[in-house]
Amino acid sequence: MRVIGIETSCDETAVAVYDEARGLLAHRLYSQIALHQAYGGVVPELASRDHVRRLVPLVREALATARSGPDTIDGVAYTAGPGLIGALLVGAGFARSLAYAWGRPAVAIHHLEGHLLAPLLEPHPPAFPFIALLVSGGHTQLVDVLGVGRYRILGQTLDDAAGEAFDKTAKVLGLPYPGGPALAQCAEHGRAERFHFPRPMLDRPGLDFSFSGLKTAALVALAGRIVNDEVRADVARGFQEAVIDTLAEKSRRALVASDRRRLVVAGGVGANQRLRERLGEMARRLGAELYFPRTEFCTDNGAMIAFAGALRLAAGERQGLAIHATSSWELADLRPALPT
Ligand code: KG4
Ligand code: ZN
Repeated sequence: MRVIGIETSCDETAVAVYDEARGLLAHRLYSQIALHQAYGGVVPELASRDHVRRLVPLVREALATARSGPDTIDGVAYTAGPGLIGALLVGAGFARSLAYAWGRPAVAIHHLEGHLLAPLLEPHPPAFPFIALLVSGGHTQLVDVLGVGRYRILGQTLDDAAGEAFDKTAKVLGLPYPGGPALAQCAEHGRAERFHFPRPMLDRPGLDFSFSGLKTAALVALAGRIVNDEVRADVARGFQEAVIDTLAEKSRRALVASDRRRLVVAGGVGANQRLRERLGEMARRLGAELYFPRTEFCTDNGAMIAFAGALRLAAGERQGLAIHATSSWELADLRPALPT
């Protein structure tokens, strides 16, 4: 089973070819960072238009690298949601048409399922079941993953996602888009103890999160100060520690409550080095194992979509000719992939 995967849910155009027997054969990504930088965030219409420009060349490149073509590709997987609807429609329309033209099946993939399964692309993949900490720009969830498509949401953010909190706080600090990596870099030279940030929801039982207050806490910390590099770094560090403390403690509670000993970290914030370290320490103390995708597969990519598509197509999933795209789609609504 060899599958081409197409991802266009936000500001990255990504294409990959995954082969069940031989692994990942090619992955290509075009990031729109430069396009959106002047606006300080993603402009949906510009994102859609750029996906139109990039898709065909990226597909050609990926197929050439994978030495694959219509005769050797068994199916087409595409991100159908959640995400920016215009951007999704570009990828979905293109992918569905490609499958039709090649006479191959297509499968619509949930973007977050792609993120959840991305660690399975690594050399030592986690076995099911595991707890997943899904931390992206739009979502923050703790999920009990029983198998492909068998997801039980244990807790989630009540307001901003962790990545969104990074992005908003970065803006407050005057850091460039994309805010998450910029803030993480700035925090490297900061002192954690200078500004105290609250640890939201840690004083309560349960596995939900709340991050919207941290942006306000950053604004309060900056009020009346001359914002030089030192202040910026200290606020960034204080903020980052608060987010990471919260994510680590709630992940620990999820492992204990579910009696699982495998934790998977997925989504863009999973690229954060300090978060990885802290989760590693927590897991070690608990005797649990920590898994994460390589950094480039934490953020959006085509490999995770090709991989999820291969699993679902191999399980016999097929879709009709309709083009599927939806901006909101609950992970818990997914159906299990049928066993092969
Ligand atoms: O998974 P992703 O690429 O896209 C979504 O599906 O949302 O996640 C993007 C998010 C953004 O909010 C970005 O700021 C954040 O992940 N991010 C980071 C880091 N790299 C990306 N946040 C903190 N530290 C990082 N190193
Ligand atoms: Zn994502």
